[in-house]
Amino acid sequence: MRTDTPVTIHRGDYAPLPWTVEAVELRIELDPTATRVSSTLTCVRNPNVEAGPLRLFGESMELVELRIDGLVASTTRITHEHGGLLVQLDGDRAEVSIVTHVDPSSNTTLSGLYMSRGGYFTQCEAEGFRRITYFPDRPDVMSRYRVTITADREACPVLLSNGNLIDSGELDDGRHFAQWEDPFPKPSYLFALVAAKLVCLERKLETMSGREVLLQVWVEEGNLDRTEHAMDSLIRSLRWDEQAFGLELDLDRFMIVAVSDFNMGAMENKGLNIFNAKFVLARPDTATDVDYERIESVVAHEYFHNWTGNRVTCRDWFQLTLKEGLTVFRDQQFSADMLAEAAGEEGAASARAVKRIDDVKVLRTSQFAEDAGPMAHPIRPESYQEINNFYTATVYEKGAEVIRMLHTLLGHEGFRSGIDLYFSYHDGQAVTCDDFVDCMAEATGRDLEQFMLWYSQAGTPIVRANGKWLAGDGIYVLTLSQHLPPTPGQPEKAPQLIPVAVGLIDPDGMDMPLRFEGESHVGGTTRVLELGETEQTWRFVDLPSAPVPSLLRGFSAPVRLELDEDDECLAFRMANDSDPFNRWDAGQRYAERVVLSLAESHEHGKLLEVPAAFLNAVRSTLCDDSLDAAFRAQACALPGETYLLERMRPADPTSLRVAMQAVFAAMGAGLADVWLRTYHDMEVNGAYRYHPGDAGRRALRNLALRYLVAGGVSEGVSRAGTQFEYASNMTECFGALAALVMSGTNEGRDGLEVFYSRYRDDALVMDKWFALQVMAWRRDPSEEAPVLDRVASLLGHDAFSMSNPNKVYALLGSFFRGNPGEFHLPDGSGYAFWADRVIELDRANPQVASRMARTLENWRHFAPHLQDEIRSQLERVASTDGLSPDVSEIVGKALA
Ligand code: PHE
Ligand code: ZN
Repeated sequence: MRTDTPVTIHRGDYAPLPWTVEAVELRIELDPTATRVSSTLTCVRNPNVEAGPLRLFGESMELVELRIDGLVASTTRITHEHGGLLVQLDGDRAEVSIVTHVDPSSNTTLSGLYMSRGGYFTQCEAEGFRRITYFPDRPDVMSRYRVTITADREACPVLLSNGNLIDSGELDDGRHFAQWEDPFPKPSYLFALVAAKLVCLERKLETMSGREVLLQVWVEEGNLDRTEHAMDSLIRSLRWDEQAFGLELDLDRFMIVAVSDFNMGAMENKGLNIFNAKFVLARPDTATDVDYERIESVVAHEYFHNWTGNRVTCRDWFQLTLKEGLTVFRDQQFSADMLAEAAGEEGAASARAVKRIDDVKVLRTSQFAEDAGPMAHPIRPESYQEINNFYTATVYEKGAEVIRMLHTLLGHEGFRSGIDLYFSYHDGQAVTCDDFVDCMAEATGRDLEQFMLWYSQAGTPIVRANGKWLAGDGIYVLTLSQHLPPTPGQPEKAPQLIPVAVGLIDPDGMDMPLRFEGESHVGGTTRVLELGETEQTWRFVDLPSAPVPSLLRGFSAPVRLELDEDDECLAFRMANDSDPFNRWDAGQRYAERVVLSLAESHEHGKLLEVPAAFLNAVRSTLCDDSLDAAFRAQACALPGETYLLERMRPADPTSLRVAMQAVFAAMGAGLADVWLRTYHDMEVNGAYRYHPGDAGRRALRNLALRYLVAGGVSEGVSRAGTQFEYASNMTECFGALAALVMSGTNEGRDGLEVFYSRYRDDALVMDKWFALQVMAWRRDPSEEAPVLDRVASLLGHDAFSMSNPNKVYALLGSFFRGNPGEFHLPDGSGYAFWADRVIELDRANPQVASRMARTLENWRHFAPHLQDEIRSQLERVASTDGLSPDVSEIVGKALA
């Protein structure tokens, strides 16, 4: 049994440190097992704080020497505390020099200094710098850095750090050095170092003020032909931030580095962004359209952090959403603008909606689930045990929704003036979410006190809508009420300010002009209602006929909307809602209803029949040539199984799978003619280019294959086979293979072998190969071996590695999260396997282990027999010796 009780850190306990660091001089002599780090800190007493010692955090290193103003510190001045040090300093300034030894080769956590494929890389957010040297490793300590790196020239010809290169040269014994200086003070979490055998793609660019800057994308030699898209994305990001926000690149040089072993997506280190290779590398034959789109948005996200995150950073980690929510919002806006631009004037609105749909799908699948479980927390958490566990969908995606609501409430100009004020007040500072919202309030004169509840209350608000048509008066009375369910530690909540965008549709499908009672003129066809009380009523007047309401247009707030609509009404909105988001959403609601009622029928041993009206509604959408392909692909796709599972209480993955299969099959077979015609019509000719228009067509074709194969349509199976064989790009190749594999066909099984022999040497493509086969659905569970067997045997595959996060996410993450029908086997064998993997991973990489552990946190939503099985495995993990704080927090909260 573990004995150490977890330590909880509280937001309210924040206090500034008595000593901060003005400047850091680092010398890092790289060696695989004994890297020597010498650091000299210019420490300054904080005059506003009660006197106290210098606080240095430290973990997993050996302290060799500590000097104060050049003299070896006497032991009486040093107190050891939780692995860190408290150092007594006199006066107002002191120079503290520290030497540590670290062992990057055995650092399997990928936090701090570690090795990947022979090179050295660092990851310091959130608390990795303290694994390199002793330091007041908190974001409110901002310092100027000068860094000297020495390494073996042969092994590591390229030496990079933040800022500008100021010197480099040869040393003895085949070693060389480089010296870097970052002109901007920064918190330690933004420090980075790279020393490896790399090459780069370079571009020079003039910024908006006419400065020339150097942009570089660094990769291993064989990957140089996969860097162009990342570079293009970087250039577009730079231009967009200049145009949209007036924000310019502030450094002479900006670098992106790809690394194969990385826990997260990417990291915004000042001037030296380090990326998971999968968000950099793209070539038409190895990356799909979705990969291209993701790369563009991640490159943009990290670049945008240069202002929102780096120039203005977070005071403490409770404020994480200050930089993440805002930066996600910015990257979402950027991607929407890029898509709209590519689509041209006519297609712009639809292109934006498609992006919005993608973002909302992520939110509703991951973040709503988080809100409904033991890890529910406000976007600004009140406490944590391990900060690494709080890089969550709530902080990121819901955080972005909160910023979006501010944008909606204040209007674009108001929002922009708030941002301008934010930079004018806080550039170069470490601030809080309150500071940000205060700027928005001051710039626009709006009271945002109630709005702040979005920062402090956890949970997904439920907005319930009721409409009444007063035929005689031509008045529509809309009543909205809100309810925020209790979450751990927050039994009661206050009503929040919820912007609800509303339209009313007439029987011909046209938007009605909207006028509230008491208003002198019509105010457009979509109005934003501000719901701030538990219940409120609005009266729309002058209506010629009974309207169909279209609520929460564009998903104007991160809430669950409840509204009684019959099937006809949903079908009507699917066909007519002028708001493309809501048009899509109507179809999703309809599909959810169909699938969940089939799942229930299955539980009661009844025959499964997919209503013809539903198929007809999908048919109309699919045949509507006024809709672009990307939108049709979204609108005709079923809601994700993971999303539906959370909507089902109790969650029963087995019957949900049966229902999903029935609906897929009916949609494939029943609409075979239109799917085949669509497949034919949507063909994209010519060489591959990443273009949203083409991508939409390819997505719709791949969706057609998915349904046709699921429906057992032999022509579909043969089309998929042909596409797989002759595809000239990964989108088509993988789309066809996925259609065959997901339905458990023999063609799919053979295709996986062919795919393997083609791409076995390409690590990123192998990730797709692992993920796809563990997400496959069995055609006949009574005859085939469970997918779990395949997952277990793939652990031993040559191309698999437990120490590479991408491999773990592809094989285990995809299975645990993406294949509920196979993971949640009634005998509980999936859970025992899960527990073994979590325990095994935790010994090497707690962050990755914790992510896998989180895949069962909502276990209480499952049917009782599954709950019993899961509980015993959670308990087994919880009682493991030496469990990391990361996993311990997750399972502890799950069992609480
Ligand atoms: N700050 C990174 C981002 O949002 C994410 C990250 C967090 C990466 C922690 C590594 C470690 O872009
Ligand atoms: Zn970020």
